[in-house]
Amino acid sequence: MLEVNDLHVSYGAVNAVQGVSAKVDEGRVTLVLGANGAGKTTSLRAIAGYHRPKSGEVLIGGRDVAGSRAHTIVRHGLVLVPEGRRVFSTLTVEENLRMGAYRAPKSQIQQTMDEVYDQFPILQERKDTAAGNLSGGEQQMLAFGRAVMSRPKVILADEPSMGLAPTMVETVMDKVREIADSGIAVLIVEQNADAGLAIADDVSVITRGRTVWTGRAADADRAAVHAVLGESELESAAE
Ligand SMILES: Nc1ncnc2c1ncn2[C@@H]1O[C@H](COP(=O)(O)OP(=O)(O)OP(=O)(O)O)[C@@H](O)[C@H]1O
Ligand SMILES: [Mg+2]
Repeated sequence: MLEVNDLHVSYGAVNAVQGVSAKVDEGRVTLVLGANGAGKTTSLRAIAGYHRPKSGEVLIGGRDVAGSRAHTIVRHGLVLVPEGRRVFSTLTVEENLRMGAYRAPKSQIQQTMDEVYDQFPILQERKDTAAGNLSGGEQQMLAFGRAVMSRPKVILADEPSMGLAPTMVETVMDKVREIADSGIAVLIVEQNADAGLAIADDVSVITRGRTVWTGRAADADRAAVHAVLGESELESAAE
């Protein structure tokens, strides 16, 4: 469903991403691991159309959308749940959900909202609450619910477990798994490798802007993945 080939992204003279590739099929979760500054956020933002890649392919269902703007890419079925969740804190939960589907016809919005409430009962319970008054975990659920409102084929999520209490991390990860099981292709970035590996089908490791390892999560020798991450940290410490 999503295939990224040899993505290159720069900030002026800084080549932050220089050869990232990844693949996610519908119903599956691909976990992207990488040390601080490896280029994970830059890759996700470039894939989702918030930063123009220098080169590379971003195929959604076989169509190359690389270089298109975010609103166009959403129409092709790919949506980003950004780092730090970014819900509209003064709007209610339900208003936030509506924002995720602002182009859809009214009848469809209601149907999708009912589905989101089925999937996230906590959002229905809190539908009239201002998003800013939700807990971090609830806000993360809202961010995912809002993404689902656009009826995407692909969801990208940048460190969904960040800043959450350990019990909440598991709850949020279980929801990520459920979202994938509903037929969506999910690509998540995590520094919490254990939390991510618990739900991932496939793993991709980025070291200094490059994809250096990909494989099945089940085949992923945990030690090997950690060694790659550890090694990259040793290398950058030596510089
Ligand atoms: N706006 C920017 N301008 C210049 N350089 C940037 C900018 N944003 C990120 N970078 C650099 O690009 C590289 C990749 O950063 P990025 O945020 O993508 O990494 P990351 O893997 O998401 O890291 P983290 O684990 O800290 O979230 C880093 O070297 C960073 O310093
Ligand atoms: Mg990041």
